[in-house]
Amino acid sequence: MNRKHIVELDKKYIWHPYTEMRNYIDNTDPVVVARAEGFYLYDQDGTRYMDGNGSWWTSIVGHNHPTLMQAIVERTQTMVNCAFAGATHELAATLAASLLPRCGASFSRIFFSDDGSTAVEVAIRMAHQYWQNVGKKEKRRFVTLSGAFHGETVGCASVSGVEVFHNALSNLLFDRIVLPSPGKIADDAPSETTWYAQAFEKASDILETRHSEVAAMIVEPLVQGAAGMLMYPPAYLNSLSKLCRERDVLLICDEVFTGYGRTGTFLAHHQADIEPDIMTLGKGFSGGELPMAATITTERIFNAFLGSAEKTLWYGHSFTGNPLGCAVANATLKVFDDEKLIENLPQKETALANGLKRLSKHPWVHDSRRTGIITAFTLKDPQGGDKAGYLNDAGWRFYAEARKRGALLRPLGNVVYFALPLTVTVEQINELVEVCEQSLDAAF
Ligand SMILES: Cc1ncc(COP(=O)(O)O)c(C=O)c1O
Repeated sequence: MNRKHIVELDKKYIWHPYTEMRNYIDNTDPVVVARAEGFYLYDQDGTRYMDGNGSWWTSIVGHNHPTLMQAIVERTQTMVNCAFAGATHELAATLAASLLPRCGASFSRIFFSDDGSTAVEVAIRMAHQYWQNVGKKEKRRFVTLSGAFHGETVGCASVSGVEVFHNALSNLLFDRIVLPSPGKIADDAPSETTWYAQAFEKASDILETRHSEVAAMIVEPLVQGAAGMLMYPPAYLNSLSKLCRERDVLLICDEVFTGYGRTGTFLAHHQADIEPDIMTLGKGFSGGELPMAATITTERIFNAFLGSAEKTLWYGHSFTGNPLGCAVANATLKVFDDEKLIENLPQKETALANGLKRLSKHPWVHDSRRTGIITAFTLKDPQGGDKAGYLNDAGWRFYAEARKRGALLRPLGNVVYFALPLTVTVEQINELVEVCEQSLDAAF
């Protein structure tokens, strides 16, 4: 089918996510992805694009990695789906056994689901029901960071705080307690040593007075992605974890974005040397290729659900433990080992650090920041004016220029970021930086 016809059918019948559809139908020429390979997406017309956002942060080993594709093809010969209650299969069992030791000594149980939002939904339900099961029914509230993003179900939206996304839902969401974000936009921070200490002080005050009603604290470890790639140090997370322990509040680390090496370690929270009670994985968990996610917890939580129907976690999805998803998740871990993806990160981090230095010379580029290979900067008009915020158009002006030059860099408002696969090469990073330089010059 030719490109024009695909776009016509699309605009006639499809409702896209996070999209103002009037503007889309009238003004947008979408990328029509025909093929994907490694760091690149190919349009139906043959144009090659660098996938700078890693297809919504999912592409962790590059597109169509041969190891993952082989696992998918092999699995389609035997079994693609089966129910996961009262039944199991080899791929789920081996995935659990191979993944859990990489996550940390305290984690011992894995619950499979479909995507990041369902993984967080499971975490919320586990934490809430845990306290019901152990007889502390008053502990039912959740504490979250301002600007947090934990997904799109009503439960996830309740513990999230990106207002543009959830304003229309506000009277449907459950009540939460919001702590100030420890995330820093570098140039605005009061000082290197105090910015997150102030956020921690507030956390400490709130948990001191309200801990008896709090079930769990949920955080995105080290990087608050959708908030605009706000970054904070492991020391904050370490102190927060101790505080949660002291106050008998469960700690949930949502590693849907930060997991699988993006921050420089397999999991971001490893840098804080902590043992959360619950953790979520998605996106890179299945190599970014299939909808598959997991919620991981400890024996303490698991044991509280044993022995009676009342205590059971009555929760699941049709595709829980999907064999194809498990096959690709197993293959993803194999690629991490075979290609030493974590061990090889430092050279890529150096290339990104050098690239950021180059980009920071442009007058519109501010607050450049990086954790591992997650890299971001904020666009601000040097003449001042209304150039801040999520609905700001500076990011889209940059996006248009970068697209013309072969890079897809969908912004978060006026924040431009890279979420690259761990398999990206130093040459590809340099090529992306080059395109950014040219696009900045053309856009501003
Ligand atoms: C930290 C975090 N948690 C949860 C989610 C939701 O994941 P999904 O879009 O796969 O439902 C996201 C999505 O970006 C995320 O960044």
